[in-house]
Amino acid sequence: MDFFALVTGKRGPSGFGSASTAVQVTEGVDASNLTAIVTGGASGIGLETARVLALRGAHVIIAARNLEAASEAKQLILKDNHTARIDVLKLDLSSIKSVRSFVNSFNALDLPLNLLINNAGVMFCPFQLSEDGIEMHFATNHLGHFLLTNLLLEKMKTTAKTTGVEGRIVNLSSLAHAGTYKGGIRFDKINDPDSYSTINAYGQSKLANLLHANELSRRLQEEGLSITVNSVHPGLIMTPLMRHNPLLMKAFKMFTFCMWKNVPQGAATTSYVALHPQLKGVTGKYYADCNETEPSNDAGDENLAKRLWDFSNKLIDGASEI
Ligand SMILES: NC(=O)c1ccc[n+]([C@@H]2O[C@H](COP(=O)([O-])OP(=O)(O)OC[C@H]3O[C@@H](n4cnc5c(N)ncnc54)[C@H](OP(=O)(O)O)[C@@H]3O)[C@@H](O)[C@H]2O)c1
Repeated sequence: MDFFALVTGKRGPSGFGSASTAVQVTEGVDASNLTAIVTGGASGIGLETARVLALRGAHVIIAARNLEAASEAKQLILKDNHTARIDVLKLDLSSIKSVRSFVNSFNALDLPLNLLINNAGVMFCPFQLSEDGIEMHFATNHLGHFLLTNLLLEKMKTTAKTTGVEGRIVNLSSLAHAGTYKGGIRFDKINDPDSYSTINAYGQSKLANLLHANELSRRLQEEGLSITVNSVHPGLIMTPLMRHNPLLMKAFKMFTFCMWKNVPQGAATTSYVALHPQLKGVTGKYYADCNETEPSNDAGDENLAKRLWDFSNKLIDGASEI
């Protein structure tokens, strides 16, 4: 990442930079033929992404665990955009059962699917296991999205084939992916409470988002399918994500204030990667401030990505047998 450009807002090769907003980077894009799912679209970056995708004409499904918050988000979007096409569906990514149920509900709507924005996430939670017995960052940020994507893939493939329009999957990772545990993913200690670190657990889940995107991108390329998969770091943005450490995050912001963005800027990289024509056919890349950037060595490790893929499938199979 280019820290000088981050702080000054200097534009990169894409023509956009850290100061660009989601509205600016999608100017002139017609998304009226697209259907999008935005996980965690009821708040923060996800809500702004949903708003801007709808502004460009896309039919947006806000996938949220809190339906009341999602309905409020829908009303907020409709207030300024009366013709916005927004639907709300229940999804708890920390629950394998809920992910399956969401996909059944979505399929029952008989809609196409062009864009999947894997945005929802939790950060720095105290140690906790999901209802399937999996550490909460890994369960929510990675495993839920891994299963969701796999279950929606057939729909995305059919949509891309029948419409001739490229499908796009965007995984919200983070710069924090570099702050994972030693070795990247702790396959043998994924649920170990004794050596648990909130910072490393979040970093591990964000590394998993990147590895997942890269491995899926390779698989789709091998199949010759017109679906791209990329990862993004949205920047540092004060959102409800900080709820487990509000004071610490505010103190951190005081010392690093010149590196923070507002929410419209925070949704720019996701919106750029999801909609911009410049990115047609571009897959398996990592973006920050709307420009391609290099992730950590672990993120580029193909063997680690393959191992994570198999491990994730095993965890899901194991949990589904309970
Ligand atoms: N903000 C930043 O500085 C920053 C930096 C790097 C990366 N990111 C990434 O950006 C993404 C969006 O974060 P944000 O900053 O916009 O935070 P946010 O406002 O807290 O948004 C996260 C969303 O995820 C939802 N969510 C959490 N657990 C869920 C679950 N089990 N099932 C379904 N939805 C769930 C939350 O819903 P509830 O309201 O119900 O909890 C919320 O709507 C995250 O993936 C985060 O890791 C953010």
